[in-house]
Amino acid sequence: QVTPVILCGGSGTRLWPLSRTGFPKQFLCLTGQDSLFQQAAQRLNGLGNASIQMAAPVIVSGEDHRFLAAEQLREAGIALGTALLEPVGRNTAPALTLAALAATENGQDPVLVVTPADQTVTDRAAFTAAVQQAIAQAEQGSIVILGVTPDKPETGYGYIQAAPHARHCEERSDAAIQCQAVLKFVEKPDLQTAQQYLQEGNYFWNAGMFVLRASVWLKALQTFRPDIAQACQAAWAVKKQDAQFIRPGKAEFAAIPSESVDYAVMEHCPGSVFPIQMVPLNAGWSDLGAWDAVWSVQGKDANGNAHTGDVLATDSRNTLVHASSRLVTLVGVSDLIVVETADAVLVADKSRCQDVKHIVAQLQNSQ
Ligand code: GDD
Ligand code: MG
Repeated sequence: QVTPVILCGGSGTRLWPLSRTGFPKQFLCLTGQDSLFQQAAQRLNGLGNASIQMAAPVIVSGEDHRFLAAEQLREAGIALGTALLEPVGRNTAPALTLAALAATENGQDPVLVVTPADQTVTDRAAFTAAVQQAIAQAEQGSIVILGVTPDKPETGYGYIQAAPHARHCEERSDAAIQCQAVLKFVEKPDLQTAQQYLQEGNYFWNAGMFVLRASVWLKALQTFRPDIAQACQAAWAVKKQDAQFIRPGKAEFAAIPSESVDYAVMEHCPGSVFPIQMVPLNAGWSDLGAWDAVWSVQGKDANGNAHTGDVLATDSRNTLVHASSRLVTLVGVSDLIVVETADAVLVADKSRCQDVKHIVAQLQNSQ
């Protein structure tokens, strides 16, 4: 059996003011009528076939978002498996560890398909084929990640250096997709390094998905970050269960070092006893990290404007306007982001979208 795990505890600060602490970006409908979280759940739901039996999804989220997540799943017609609720965010390594501990509790060792909740994929069929190939690899004990061909030196992603030749691929009915051994994994390199990788070729962006057996994750974490592994076990040992909701010990969880899956484990795997493979993902993948990415994936008019809500524009180009509660008008501007909500308005140059997080930090400091 294969267990889908959705990590949805992030705060999405760069999509402020639409993304808020109480309603972070993964629960917003940014690209159509379903939220990013619902889209992630639906993509996972479609992975089953004759040889892959998918369990109900496990979600790992903040305590505060349990009803939001459960309600959105219900709305999407997907039954919730288990909700693992964190009292505080400790990044993705502890989140994945909770899922692995839950999955192995009854002596089982399913393949986990771990996916973030802040992405869009336009080609669902290509996504399904690639992840099914990844599952076949992971069943053999590999850690499998999905690689996207980069088109710019984005510094917010992990970079995968893949061996040029495909090897050791498990045969699956739809095996046009190959996998490649991972030679190097570098999380969020600086701009110069990212530019160099782009020039060298044979580097891919990490799509943020991890496909692996639960026991393989637990062993790799124990090897590379025994401190996190032990702290997670301590929090799990005193968990409380209330129907589908499982809560690790509050004080114990807060004591876990905060670290991402990428830094804690993935960077150390190449060349170690934990083989890591990459399956290429050519499925119109996009990480909706900041407003410029939202602009990229939205439908646009002939002048490159993506406008939602009550918007009137003249002589404007390549703008994104999101009007929630008022009429927003533009005259003679280009490459501008305007996000209007009832209590806050963002106006930003499209090339500076990453810096929205600084505004959020200032707001938090002033509270
Ligand atoms: N449960 C839980 N708890 N989920 C979390 C937490 C947490 O503390 N922190 C983040 N998440 C969720 C986010 O909601 C998101 O869906 C996912 O985990 C990934 O976290 P991000 O914070 O968005 O990671 P990132 O975008 O900086 O980097 C990751 O994704 C990139 C691709 O989008 C890395 O895996 C990169 O290597 C990768 O390129
Ligand atoms: Mg992200």
